[in-house]
Amino acid sequence: MKWMKALALAAICALSVVTLAGCGGQSADNGGKKVLKVGSSIDFAPFEFQDEGQKDYQGFDMDLIRAIGKELGYEVEVSNIPFDGLIPAMQNKTMDVAISGMTINDERKQNVLFSDPYYQAGLTMVVRDDEQAIQKFTDLKGHKVAVQIGTTSAEEVKKLEGVEVHEFNTPADCFTELKARGVDAVVNDRPVNDYYIQKSGATGVKALPERLTAEDYGIAMAKDNTELQQKINEALKKLKDNGEYDKIFAKWFGESK
Ligand code: ARG
Repeated sequence: MKWMKALALAAICALSVVTLAGCGGQSADNGGKKVLKVGSSIDFAPFEFQDEGQKDYQGFDMDLIRAIGKELGYEVEVSNIPFDGLIPAMQNKTMDVAISGMTINDERKQNVLFSDPYYQAGLTMVVRDDEQAIQKFTDLKGHKVAVQIGTTSAEEVKKLEGVEVHEFNTPADCFTELKARGVDAVVNDRPVNDYYIQKSGATGVKALPERLTAEDYGIAMAKDNTELQQKINEALKKLKDNGEYDKIFAKWFGESK
């Protein structure tokens, strides 16, 4: 009889493990480890990208959120979500946070909470090497310009007069279109443009120095999640104070802040 009892007990244990694992959910307690569900649009080197043959997503944002997770005792689980789907994912709470080179702005603040700023960027242009007509943003008038859907680039370029805006799912699609002469310029975040030209060995294109905007990146979360916002800000501050942030910065940008 004893063995039957043991068997029943084992069955119950196995079942509860399955149910526990199945519970998932927001920052759920998965067998003792809390999970932070992170959404990111993995198309934005050096902030978030995936090299061929690499299992893990990598980049500045990925290292930063993993360090924050470690600080807070969360296991970090990253899902690849198109950029324009990230804010909705915070709103319907399928994700706890989004880290995706996302610019803090008033429009977005109506829908999500942001952490303190963690990186300063801004928009620049990439054109073909042989481009003569476009040197400044004001020269874009009468030209076709590629931008990523749902980004500040899309928003800013639409404000410029007489520009034909072409929206694509990823910056890579924008660059492909530029090389194929379907557009005359790509507007995108400066560090991503620079990385594309300098590190990924892009040829036939160049980045122009003028900056259209100055923008701060922040980590986004649901509008009512002030508790998580506070925790993330504390972790961010700690990483800045203890030098960990600088290490991550130097790894991806080769200079310290
Ligand atoms: N900083 C810009 C914005 O917030 C572009 C961000 C795009 N991020 C990405 N992972 N594709 O709109």
